[in-house]
Amino acid sequence: MSSVSTAKTAPPQFDVEAVRRDFPTLSQQVNGKPLVYLDNGASSQRPEAVLLAMDRYYREMHSNVHRGAHTLGDRATNAFESAREKVQKFLNAPSSRQIIWTRGATEAINLVANGLTEKLKPGDEILLSQMEHHANIVPWQILAERTGAKVVPIGVTPEGELDRESFHCLLGERTRILAFNHVSNALGTINPVADMVAKAKAQGVITLIDGAQAVPHFQVDVQALDCDFYVFSAHKMFGPTGIGILYGKADLLEAMPPWQGGGEMIERVSFAGTTYNTLPYKFEAGTPAVAEAVGLGAAIDYLASLDRGAMEAAENALLRRANDLVASVPGMTVVGTAANKVPVMSFTIEGLHPSDIGTLLDQQGIAVRTGHHCAMPLMEFYEIPGTARASFAFYNTLEEVEQLFTALRKIQSRFA
Ligand code: ALA
Repeated sequence: MSSVSTAKTAPPQFDVEAVRRDFPTLSQQVNGKPLVYLDNGASSQRPEAVLLAMDRYYREMHSNVHRGAHTLGDRATNAFESAREKVQKFLNAPSSRQIIWTRGATEAINLVANGLTEKLKPGDEILLSQMEHHANIVPWQILAERTGAKVVPIGVTPEGELDRESFHCLLGERTRILAFNHVSNALGTINPVADMVAKAKAQGVITLIDGAQAVPHFQVDVQALDCDFYVFSAHKMFGPTGIGILYGKADLLEAMPPWQGGGEMIERVSFAGTTYNTLPYKFEAGTPAVAEAVGLGAAIDYLASLDRGAMEAAENALLRRANDLVASVPGMTVVGTAANKVPVMSFTIEGLHPSDIGTLLDQQGIAVRTGHHCAMPLMEFYEIPGTARASFAFYNTLEEVEQLFTALRKIQSRFA
């Protein structure tokens, strides 16, 4: 991965067996076999610390936030706002007012696309990439339909990298917005965010980065990236489902209208007219997902307790081992061979449908995702209906990589 140190020191040690003990889900049998969980790109597992934090929140401090004039209300509000501060530090955002709670990365992108309506006019262009998740395509298509703007995709190379030439050609006078993923969910490619953002900003283009697949793997600094918006979901980074983050530059967030009306997002309501709350509350109508915010805060604390450098090195070793074993499976092709990747291996095997590979692996206790991975334009580019995808996390082991390939060889020899 990009941030792994190449210093000439001994490789950092990472005690994967100790880490696995923190994750209760991992120590179970599935279909009579020990679970090998390689579907972390879809959703990761959560450590005991996250489960305990949410349990404790509900047992000891649940109440509504920013409302109650009582002790539980204060405890809930403190826990909720302290989680926001943890997210701020996690992303190195300048201020916690710039951290908006959403239901996930998808909702965060929809919020921004909705909020930028006034910035677009017919003929303007929204630049995306061909390797986007549908969540970073469809909201922009809806925005384009509403405003007369046009969605334009940046091409991808056969290796699964963003095509720099295509980007340079397409980034033009009409471009108003550039939105793309930090890491491709389908391929694992790490994209050159800082470089692309700098080029876009030089032309006054607004940038949004989908970081859903990046934050589980390496540290992100939104100030260093200098993007205008950065989004992610908690459930892919060892936190709860149903909560995610929108980070935004303060001036842009201030200028955007609220997107949902209700309690919390107002300053004053009257039938003569309503005024809105300040950031971040302007975008947080209704009772928020308080326990989930606390859970995300606990996931951030958990990640901070690990040696991130050692963790990245361990993940790199998983991908290297998987790459070494590809040749042992006749007819196996890796889709997405970028130089800079997180540990994700998307693949096809000649003579086998990806969904059959998934079912046969599941019979052996191995969980992978199959299909188009919510990235149909990318599958179109490769002219395939889909792939099987093994997406690793830091709690996976080299033995599990071996188990995957032993199972694939068995499947290939019996069914291909
Ligand atoms: N976006 C998730 C994935 O890649 C669901 O599997």
